[in-house]
Amino acid sequence: MKSSILILGAGRGLGRELCRFFLEEGHSVIGVTRTRESLTTALDDFSLRKQLFRGEAIDLSDRESSLRFLHGQNKELVPDLVVYAAGYLSERKPLWDLSWEEIDREISSNFSGPLLWSVEMTRAFLKAKRGGHLFFSSGVVRLPRPSWGSYGVGKAAVEALSKQISLDLPQPLYSLSINPGRMATAMRKVAFPDEDQATLPSPVSIAKKIGAFCLTLIEGAGRTYNGKALTMEDIP
Ligand SMILES: NC(=O)c1ccc[n+]([C@@H]2O[C@H](COP(=O)([O-])OP(=O)(O)OC[C@H]3O[C@@H](n4cnc5c(N)ncnc54)[C@H](OP(=O)(O)O)[C@@H]3O)[C@@H](O)[C@H]2O)c1
Repeated sequence: MKSSILILGAGRGLGRELCRFFLEEGHSVIGVTRTRESLTTALDDFSLRKQLFRGEAIDLSDRESSLRFLHGQNKELVPDLVVYAAGYLSERKPLWDLSWEEIDREISSNFSGPLLWSVEMTRAFLKAKRGGHLFFSSGVVRLPRPSWGSYGVGKAAVEALSKQISLDLPQPLYSLSINPGRMATAMRKVAFPDEDQATLPSPVSIAKKIGAFCLTLIEGAGRTYNGKALTMEDIP
């Protein structure tokens, strides 16, 4: 059975590789990126599968743009799964060394954007009686460390959001989070600029494992994982 998946943060890193995985498996994907530049790169990258891929540039920090997309021509949209892969890390600093612009962007990209989209998509799921949410968490939620500022706060909040939603969702709807662990992406480079990225797992390999797991969620396992906060080791 072919599925439809909405991926927020499809322009780079893990989100982009998840798009590639689902498209190669023949599923249809709507990919949301923040910038036109990364949308153009994704459209070029997936041009061979353009019948299955639709891209949109929407900044999740911008509530009006998000609502325009969700309440406009897409108001009947009911994907089988929404993957919240968008994330933003400004720099590793204590909260008081971040500007309000940096704090706002970290909280909106990592938490309040996903909050808005998950509330709106849940309304569509409830009408259709199907659908699931997959959020991405971080190691700093279970093991808080110095200098992860509002990124750490946003990731803890998104994990709490997933658990809260899961408690109220009727069957067969579901919500879960995964901490994908360290990966060789642009975000990781911001966090650890001196690290050799060749020593890290690639987003391609992480996407293959998570993507295959997503398909099992869609095919019926979703409710088994409702409310769970998983690490990569928990994924069968
Ligand atoms: N990398 C790691 O080691 C690691 C570890 C633990 C958890 N994670 C989590 O895993 C997920 C993927 O991370 P990644 O390393 O692949 O990140 P990445 O390479 O920095 O890519 C992030 C993606 O999110 C998009 N994005 C950021 N802010 C957005 C906004 N306001 N609106 C719409 N899209 C937005 C970016 O769009 P543009 O390209 O247009 O900017 C980009 O496509 C994130 O949730 C991250 O927190 C990553």
